[in-house]
Amino acid sequence: MNAEDVIECRVLTGFHCLPFAQYTTPHTNRRCEHEAGMTMIGASIGGRPVGLAVFSCQNDSEKASLESIFVHPDARRRGIGRGLLKAVHSTLVDMGAAEVGGTWFHDAPSAGLVERLLADSGWSDPVSTAMVHHCGRRILAHVDQNNRAARLPAGFAFDSWANLSSDERARVDELRETQEIPFGLHPNGESTLPVSPKTTTVLRHEGDIVGWMIHHELTPEMLRYSSLWLRPDLVGGGLGISVAIESARRHLALADQIPRLFFMVMEDNHAMHRFIARRLQPGLDRSSILMDSSKALIPASSDEK
Ligand SMILES: CC(C)(COP(=O)(O)OP(=O)(O)OC[C@H]1O[C@@H](n2cnc3c(N)ncnc32)[C@H](O)[C@@H]1OP(=O)(O)O)[C@@H](O)C(=O)NCCC(=O)NCCS
Repeated sequence: MNAEDVIECRVLTGFHCLPFAQYTTPHTNRRCEHEAGMTMIGASIGGRPVGLAVFSCQNDSEKASLESIFVHPDARRRGIGRGLLKAVHSTLVDMGAAEVGGTWFHDAPSAGLVERLLADSGWSDPVSTAMVHHCGRRILAHVDQNNRAARLPAGFAFDSWANLSSDERARVDELRETQEIPFGLHPNGESTLPVSPKTTTVLRHEGDIVGWMIHHELTPEMLRYSSLWLRPDLVGGGLGISVAIESARRHLALADQIPRLFFMVMEDNHAMHRFIARRLQPGLDRSSILMDSSKALIPASSDEK
């Protein structure tokens, strides 16, 4: 075997990450720079970067997440993907993780390749976990035209995230504990993407913040509608939908600058799936199923593949 055939997979740090950055998205590169627990593993042949796997492993979690895996098209079917996964597995075992999972869209061009690679490396059969809807101005106009202006009960008012004072932002932080808001529904659940200040809408009651629809800026042209939250005692009266509609109207006003959006609905949120089918379907451009697979991490040499 000559040097040109030797595949080397290693954890990357500092400037060693740079030649491999081309093998994942700008968003994942940003996360690697700014977010704790992100690790890049680079694959090289004869010193030439040919592939990259990125995983996230938080200190307080036994389950790690494979964020991205990519091998240069000219270097495929030579065991590099398998080698990257082996390196991911062994690095995670050393870090104390018990399981690794990963997600991808069923209709992504690479879905079949990733599925075959994961199956080859002993990951579980993929299951669908959520639906991700991609849309644009059409859905914003549809929502605007098909809903009357909200008539909020006395004492309630909408406001824009941009108008929150720093004291109020601190109170939003406190709400996570006092209201036991799941991390994913709280603005702090996202550490790298900025909140869209003008379209993100909060609901106030007598001045207090009691709900929100948070939008994050994925790119300058695309928002992720990340979380709709309402204080639990207010759920069920239609206020949540009103906040979502109001945020869509505020987004419509800026649709020339920010024309795209997407949002995710978990598989078991049947009420939301029914709502989307009845009320939003005509405005959707593309709906992708988010697939999920995982693998228990077994220390030492019993983890053959
Ligand atoms: C998926 C991917 C990483 C696989 O990398 P690879 O280096 O070609 O994979 P390997 O050579 O290690 O293949 C290992 C096994 O996976 C399976 N496999 C991989 N590619 C396959 C293919 N095209 N057809 C069938 N099986 C395949 C096979 O079981 C293979 O073993 P074998 O070659 O002994 O039969 C690569 O195809 C890729 O980068 N695709 C694009 C992924 C992408 O877009 N990622 C970005 C979003 S996360």
